[in-house]
Amino acid sequence: MRLAKRIGLIKPSATLAVTAEVARLRAQGTQVIDFGAGEPDFDTPQRIKDAAVRALAAGATKYTPVAGTKQIREAVVAKLKRLNGLDYAPEETVATCGGKHALFGAFQALFEEGDEVVLPAPFWVSYADMLVLAGAKPVIVHGSPEAGFKITPEQLRRAITPRTRGVVLNSPSNPTGAAYDAPSLAALGKVLVESPDVFVIVDDVYEVLYFEGATPPHLLATYPELRPRTLIVNSVSKTYAMTGWRLGYAAGPVEVIKAITTLQGQSTSNPAAVSQAAAAEALAGPQDEIAPMVEEFRWRRDYVVDRFGRIPGVKCVRPEGAFYAFPDVSGLFGRAWRGAPLGNANRVCEFLLAEARVALVAGDDFAAPNHIRISYATSRDNLRNGFDAIEKAVGALG
Ligand SMILES: Cc1ncc(COP(=O)(O)O)c(C=O)c1O
Repeated sequence: MRLAKRIGLIKPSATLAVTAEVARLRAQGTQVIDFGAGEPDFDTPQRIKDAAVRALAAGATKYTPVAGTKQIREAVVAKLKRLNGLDYAPEETVATCGGKHALFGAFQALFEEGDEVVLPAPFWVSYADMLVLAGAKPVIVHGSPEAGFKITPEQLRRAITPRTRGVVLNSPSNPTGAAYDAPSLAALGKVLVESPDVFVIVDDVYEVLYFEGATPPHLLATYPELRPRTLIVNSVSKTYAMTGWRLGYAAGPVEVIKAITTLQGQSTSNPAAVSQAAAAEALAGPQDEIAPMVEEFRWRRDYVVDRFGRIPGVKCVRPEGAFYAFPDVSGLFGRAWRGAPLGNANRVCEFLLAEARVALVAGDDFAAPNHIRISYATSRDNLRNGFDAIEKAVGALG
């Protein structure tokens, strides 16, 4: 079979691959604790499901405008005002099939062959592949564990060349959970203000999952002058436990929004009508379910950091947000398992899946080969049982 060259440039998502492996093992009757999946274990709040049912009864079963209904675009505008203090018009927004498709459309609309796009690492697996598909070259800037996986303004400045067309900022981050506080974000913003040819993509999908006090002000609230060359990407997936509804959105300059909409019109058309109605309720309705969810994630964050801290050979930076931790497991490399030394993070994950029946994702695809990612979007019982099993398996290593 002859496939197009572009398909050879990308690989299956490492995180989705782990989810598929967990499903395969479970189908065989093997019990596995899943620390791989990047989705909240909570269910979509009832008020949102009710809104979807009402919308279906009212006929939300047809195509909608490609960029989304008036209702969802107005809900996005209201959310940006309520949470971020930012003023957008509905025409400056587009509803998409998940935040992922907003990013895909943005990269296609903005970048091309020869463009460099700065990607702070460790980064979410899909950024690099989606940039490559757009023809752009990801320029990877590593945030060190000592710096809490955050890049410094000096690193950002050094990475920007005359070919740099964009930068992607994701705070709190997948996979590390690292989040910039107000001064460190402002310091990056200052570099961006001084780099007028760089388009800024701000991926806010984890914005409410911040554990260190009040959410830091939005980059655009601090530097409104960046607004004409910034695209905000967000989605209801993580904030409202709505991963399966596939509803994301972007807000930014009208030309970029129109370009993303044209691309969407020639690929997916509008996102599902019923999901738009549900997401409008999510964004514009009462927000009471968020605070208890954040509290629960904070408890789990503390638990996970504490448990990793007690495993010899594992070092874990304390994340400030999201629902991930990203420990360094290189202290286990060289320990013997099944007659051979554990050589890399992939093998550590294989070992933990085989011996502890715990699924984790290796850091290689996040540009961090000494690390593994744990998603703690799972119950306290699963965390306790999973860590007990990990401790036992590591203790039994040669
Ligand atoms: C950093 C980041 N951005 C965007 C997304 C996209 O989420 P969705 O397409 O479900 O909105 C994800 C999902 O894992 C993510 O981790």
